[in-house]
Amino acid sequence: MIETKIEKAINKQINQELTAAYSYMAMAAYFAEISLDGFATWMLRQREEETQHANRLYQYLLDRDGKVELPPIASPKTEFQGVQDVFEIALKLEENNTASINHVYQVAAQYKDYATLSALQWFLDEQVEEEKSMRDMLDIVKFAGTDKGAILTLNQQIAQGNVPGVQGGGLNTNGGN
Ligand code: FEO
Repeated sequence: MIETKIEKAINKQINQELTAAYSYMAMAAYFAEISLDGFATWMLRQREEETQHANRLYQYLLDRDGKVELPPIASPKTEFQGVQDVFEIALKLEENNTASINHVYQVAAQYKDYATLSALQWFLDEQVEEEKSMRDMLDIVKFAGTDKGAILTLNQQIAQGNVPGVQGGGLNTNGGN
């Protein structure tokens, strides 16, 4: 049986992961609307990853005989001021997610729940990668600035998985992670 406060924190984190997934879906839709399909596919891939993170926590909670609560997922922002705006928001989202994982870790540490701490280690490592990936994208997009040709080239390169420092390529539907 898992401590109630840890159970509550993990449930909140499941919601956070699904909220991130929903946000990335909104960002993908925005990119698709403006015909930046490489960026859209990349964002759908982030959406898949967040869903997998939620699934992982969900399974962990069940394995510990915890109660899974599924409160509503907040509506994401759907209007953006451009490509850079999207990645600035996405980076903030990842930073918030890191803070949120850290909070779950702190609660688990408080109760000396070593199994939960061990399970959370994967998420801490993953957050380092996710923040880096988002920061790399933001840096590249900033570099392109308002040059539409550069953004289009970048869009193509992302679709082909040729952008250094970021995970490119198509949507991974096989699970991964
Ligand atoms: Fe699951 Fe990007 O945090």
